[in-house]
Amino acid sequence: MAIRAIRKDSDEILRKTSRKVEIIDERILTLLDDMTETMRAAEGVGLAAPQVGVLRRVVVIDVGEGLIELINPVIVYEKGEQLREEGCLSIPGKSGVVKRPEKVIVRALNRKGETFEIIGEDLLAVALCHEIDHLNGILFTDKAITIKEQGRD
Ligand code: NI
Repeated sequence: MAIRAIRKDSDEILRKTSRKVEIIDERILTLLDDMTETMRAAEGVGLAAPQVGVLRRVVVIDVGEGLIELINPVIVYEKGEQLREEGCLSIPGKSGVVKRPEKVIVRALNRKGETFEIIGEDLLAVALCHEIDHLNGILFTDKAITIKEQGRD
C-alpha cells in the first residue's frame, strides 16, 4: 500500500468524468488499497479515484462505521433532504453547507466483482453523494449554499 498525492483546487482532472471499471484487476485492487491509506492518512471520510489522479469510478468511504469500497457506484434511490456542512480533501481550507438527500441507496460492485447495495442515511448519505459527484467532475463548492474559508467568517 502507498499514500498517493491528493489533487487539489484547480487541478483539471477533478473536473473530468471518470470511466467505469470493466475488469477488476490487480491495478484496481491496489488503487482501492492506496485510496484507503491515503484517506486515512489525510483523516478524511471519503475519497474518489480522480482525487488521486485516476479517472476510474472507484470510491472509498469511512464515516466511522467501517470501510466501504465502491466500484461503479450508482444512486438507485433517494429520499428527503438535509443540509450539512461539507469539506473536501481536494479543497483544503474551505467548507460549505450543501443540500443533499436524507437517504440514498447506492448500488455498486465490491472488490470481488459482486453487486451489492448500501443504504446511506445522514452523514453516510452525504458522503455517498459527495464522492459520486467527484466521479462526474462535480465539487461540493458547485452546490454549496454558503462557503466558508478557514480563518475568515
Ligand atoms: Ni471531496
